[in-house]
This record gives sequence, C-alpha cells and structure tokens, in this order.
Amino acid sequence: MKKILFFFISLYAIAGWSQSKELNIMPWPQEIVLGNSNIEISPKFTVVVHQEITKRIDIATTKFIQRLSGRTGIFFENGFAFNANKIKNATLEIAYKRIGKLEINEDESYQLHVSPTKISIEATTDIGVIYALETLLQLVENNETAYFFPEVTIHDFPRFTWRGLMIDVARHFHPVDVLKRNLDVMASVKMNVFHWHLTDDQGFRIESKTHPKLHQLGSDGLYYTQEQIKEVVQYASDRGIRVVPEVDVPGHATAILTAYPEIGSKDTTYSIERFSGIFDPTLDPTNERTYEILGDLFGEMAALFPDQYFHIGGDENEGKHWDENLKIQEFKKKHAIDSNHNLQTFMNIRLEEILAKHGKLVMGWEEIMTDKMPTSALIHSWKGVNEGVEGGSSLFNAAKKGYKTVLSNGFYIDLMQPASDHYIVNPLPKNNNLTVEESARILGGEATMWSELTTSLTLDSRIWPRTAAIAERFWSSEEIIDVADMYKRLETVSFRLEELGITHIKNRDVILRNITNNQNIAALLDLTKICEPLKIYTRNSGGTEYKTFSPFTLFADACSADASEGIIFNKFVENYTATKNENSKKEIITYLKKWSNNYNQFLLLEKKSPILNEIAPLSKNVAEISTTLLSIINSKKIKAEDVNNGKELLLKLQKPVVDVELIILEDLNKLFIFIINEKGGKNSFKN
Ligand code: ACM
Repeated sequence: MKKILFFFISLYAIAGWSQSKELNIMPWPQEIVLGNSNIEISPKFTVVVHQEITKRIDIATTKFIQRLSGRTGIFFENGFAFNANKIKNATLEIAYKRIGKLEINEDESYQLHVSPTKISIEATTDIGVIYALETLLQLVENNETAYFFPEVTIHDFPRFTWRGLMIDVARHFHPVDVLKRNLDVMASVKMNVFHWHLTDDQGFRIESKTHPKLHQLGSDGLYYTQEQIKEVVQYASDRGIRVVPEVDVPGHATAILTAYPEIGSKDTTYSIERFSGIFDPTLDPTNERTYEILGDLFGEMAALFPDQYFHIGGDENEGKHWDENLKIQEFKKKHAIDSNHNLQTFMNIRLEEILAKHGKLVMGWEEIMTDKMPTSALIHSWKGVNEGVEGGSSLFNAAKKGYKTVLSNGFYIDLMQPASDHYIVNPLPKNNNLTVEESARILGGEATMWSELTTSLTLDSRIWPRTAAIAERFWSSEEIIDVADMYKRLETVSFRLEELGITHIKNRDVILRNITNNQNIAALLDLTKICEPLKIYTRNSGGTEYKTFSPFTLFADACSADASEGIIFNKFVENYTATKNENSKKEIITYLKKWSNNYNQFLLLEKKSPILNEIAPLSKNVAEISTTLLSIINSKKIKAEDVNNGKELLLKLQKPVVDVELIILEDLNKLFIFIINEKGGKNSFKN
C-alpha cells in the first residue's frame, strides 16, 4: 500500500512539474505542484485577512483586486480585503504572523494553495503575503469563456536575501513617478533592494538643508526634495523594498565640487560634468571641511533613509588630483600612507565612523576593500573576475576576508546585452572553494542601471523585462537555468508588467512617432524588431559623442536588447541550416519578403523629419540584402551578380549606423553561405 501511495504521489508531482512548465511564473518558485482542477474567478471573488490588515497588505490586496479586475474585465462586488471576522467563506484567505522588517535575512517566504473551492496564502511576514499575491496574479489563466486560477500548491522562499536594482539618477534625473512605477515592478518580481545612486559628476540630486548649495548648484534644478525622498522610501517600504542611498565619493564628485570647490583636491573652479566617463575632480581627504560637509549631509540623509546600509561609492578614483597636490603628498608622508588607495581607505574609515554614529553600516564599490577596511563594510563587487583585486573575483575575496558582499558584475543592464547573458551568471556556483560561513556572506546581487544614455523616456525599456530574468537568478533555485524556458515565460511576464504603468513597450512607438513626425511608423517598427542599440559601451565610446543634454529620442533609443524578431529569425535559421526543415525555410522567406519591402515603405514617409535621412541607409541595405537572399533562394542557378551584391551588402551592414547593430546580420550571413553552398556545391562559396 505504501509503495502504491508513493508511486501516486511521485506521479502527481512529476505531472505537476511538466504541466507547471507551461505557467508563466517569474521568478520560478522553489516548490510547485500543479493539480488537475481549477477555481473560476467570478464577481463574488472575496479576500479576507486573518490578522490586522497592515498598510502593506491593504495596498497589495487592493491593487491585486484592481489588477485582476483590469485583466479579466470582471466587475467584482468587493474591491477591498475584509478582516476575517467580517465575512465567511471568502475565496482568498490570507494569514501571516507579523509585520516584516526591512533588513537582510528577513523571512520573505510564503505558501500558496489553490484548491477547486478556495485559495489560501500563509506567510510569516506581510512581505511574504505581497509575494504570494504576485505569484497568484502570474497564475491567472483563461479559456474562451472564463478566467481561473489553476489548482496548485506552492512553497516559496528566496535563494538570496539581497535582490537589488540600482538606478542612477545622477547622469539623468528620473522623477519620483518614474521611480515609483519601477518599485511596483520590482515588487512584482520579488526584488527587495532599491539602490539609489544619487550623486555623480553629472548631478547631485538630494535637497540638503545644511548645505543647500549642493542641490542648488549641483543639480540644474533637478533634485529630490527631502519630502519626495521620504515619499519614495515609504512607497518602497510599503512594497517590502529597502532603499540604500549612495553618495559617491571621493571620485565621481564634480557636482559636489561645483557647489563646494574648497573641498576639492585641486585649487580651481568646477562645473557640472556634461560628458560620460571617469573624471579627475576628487574630494580632498586631508581637509577637515570635507568631513564637516559630508558629516552634515550624511546626518540629514541618515534621518531620511532608515536602511542599515549607506553606500559611499568609492569606485574609479584614479587620484590624479591627489598626486598633483603638494599638501596631500605631505599628508601622506606624515601619516605613513603609502598609496592613494590607502589614502582613500583613510577617508573611508573616517566616513565609516561618521555613519556609525548614525547607526549605519558602510557599503561601497569593491575598491573600498583594503586591508584596513573594517569587515563591517559591505563590498559591492562590480569588476570582472581577476580584475581590480588580486587573486580573483572580489566577491569571493570579500567573502573569504569576512565581508558581506553583493554581486553586480554580470548584471550591468546598461550594457544592453541579452537577458540570457545575465541569466547565466550565478553569484554562488556550486563548485566554489568557500566554506559554509563564507558562502553565507554572499548576500545576493544587484542589477545596475547606469543612466548615461538613458532618460526617463527609455529607462523602463533598459531595465525591463531583462531584470525580471535577473530577479529569477536572485530568487529561484540555481537549478532553474533553462534559457529557452526563461525567454518563453519572459514574453508573457513582460507584457503583464505594463499593467503596473511602465513604458518599456509603449515608449518605442512614442519615439518612432517623434522620429517620423507622426507618420506611419510601421517600417521603423519592423526595423526595431531586428536592431539593437550598440552594446558594451560601444555607443558613445569614449564618452564624448553624447552630452547629458543630447537627444535620447533617436532610433537607437526606440530599439532595445533582445530584439524580438531577431530571436525568432535566429531559431529558424539555426533549424533550417541544421536540418533543411521546409517549414523553417518558409518562415525565413516570409521574413525576407517583409524586410525586402522595408525601404519601399520607408520611402512612403514624407520628408517631414530630417532624422529620417540618417536611417534611410539602414532600411535600404536591409531591404536589398533580403531581396538578394530571396533571389538566391528562388533561382535554380546562382547568379554571380547576386553573390557579389550579397557579399557587398553583408559587409556594408557590418558597419553600424544610427548607433544600432543589425542583430540578424550573423544569421543572414549564415543563410547566404548555406544556400550558396547548397545550390552550387560545396566549393562554390567560401566566406
Ligand atoms: C562602477 O561601475 N563604476 C561601479
């Protein structure tokens, strides 16, 4: 009997697994068993909470009902959760034990059980309840006549306690509403740290009451008032998200020095930086006034930001102005400080003491990790393995030396790489040489959204949906690594994110309408599906092509990573060139036909906008290579003219125009060689 029972249970679990692979949940839960039934969503859908309806639960349940109603078109009789003593037999029952604290290693787990008659959520904290509701929303399914939740049992908890997103608001300012909508999306994919990069060479974004010149002279009028900062911190807290502020010192400090040149290391005047890169202006660590100003500022900020951690930056200080300053050189000699790195540590320790008085712990980019830095500091690892720190990855080194640490290397979403590149980065792979204690110091990771090339028009499309895949890496089991499955789920997750007001999809059309001056955008839209912005800092290489006030409303800004038809076309070409599958060939021909017509469509656009002129060669070359390939595919005998044209066009297309790369180029090349070899015999064409 036992044996049979076991057999049944395993079958159930295995069947559940294979069926649950059809679900579009992200991050994927730790344990999930799917049943065979479901519960229909009706206007009588009700929610009760067995304990106090905390502010978090109130916001989460109300928003849950609104989103469910918006998605299904159902007019619910009740738009809000009830206390359990108010009604009996609710559809969704929520129970939790206590209010969650916004600190590392807090319990964020939840259990979700959907039966054919009832749904229940149980969690230790109200933060777990938020996550359960997000998972439940991702479970909504429908057939032709009804919406329902599938029968399922989920037990879920995070792999890492630190699941962060950094947003740089210094290079380009992002207003409060933009941040709020991103906080909503973060919570929806179970991310829990908003790292707010508030200062840099290009802007100081915090209202300072003790030293108002900081925001008055350092921000071009684009800064957050203290009231706005409180509002964002509260908004994040209501969604279970911690906020870690960053004031980047001693480098990346031009904006601070624009306001207070007297604490700079060079006797000069400064002005807000307009370009991108690494710049020389550096705070003077030997000047007591530096600590007075930063001390006052940190004091103000400590009152605004309740989080235990305070990020002091510390990255990319090359110390040029220190080397040029005799007073600083003498200071180093007098205090037996043998390097600029150690001088920076001297400063970091002073700042650590100031922050400790306010009950804060220091976090900093990996450069702050020197022998003298106390292990209470949290090391933010951002450089590659073997870069920057002797002996390998700063992440592992930090953990070995006793520091808590968080990984951002591999999660630089501003590099515009595909989601898959980030997805495969594992902060704590199995085959590591860390002890259990050392492993526990690796708290998780952070996606970093640097804003040199990003305004609020494009911020969402640079963060989402790829960061949802990163969120899965931080939350889910490391066994969840199927890239194709991730992309399949991401497609649905991405469009659902729009429900929260983010503009990652719709702003593409907004930009194209601007480019065409409100004409038909179809031709350009097709190009955005096969073009991606130049990657890994090749757009604006050297930092001098774009200034902070340059236009970020261009064709490259309408494009994004993971261009949708690029991904699909790649699959067909891979399949066709490997197996000669006729269906794949048909699909390839359909795409080539569409693209071969791109320039004709493009020419229909009236010359209402000079921006169009720069895009014309891209449209023309894409159309011509597609026409040439079609001709080669359709002709019995290969024409020399087609081969020569093809070669020439493929070469031309290698050179990026309008700051994008044609993402199908490699596949076009592959197809070209394959078809020619296929038609003309093996030796007819060598690339
Ligand atoms: C950094 O990317 N400079 C931390």
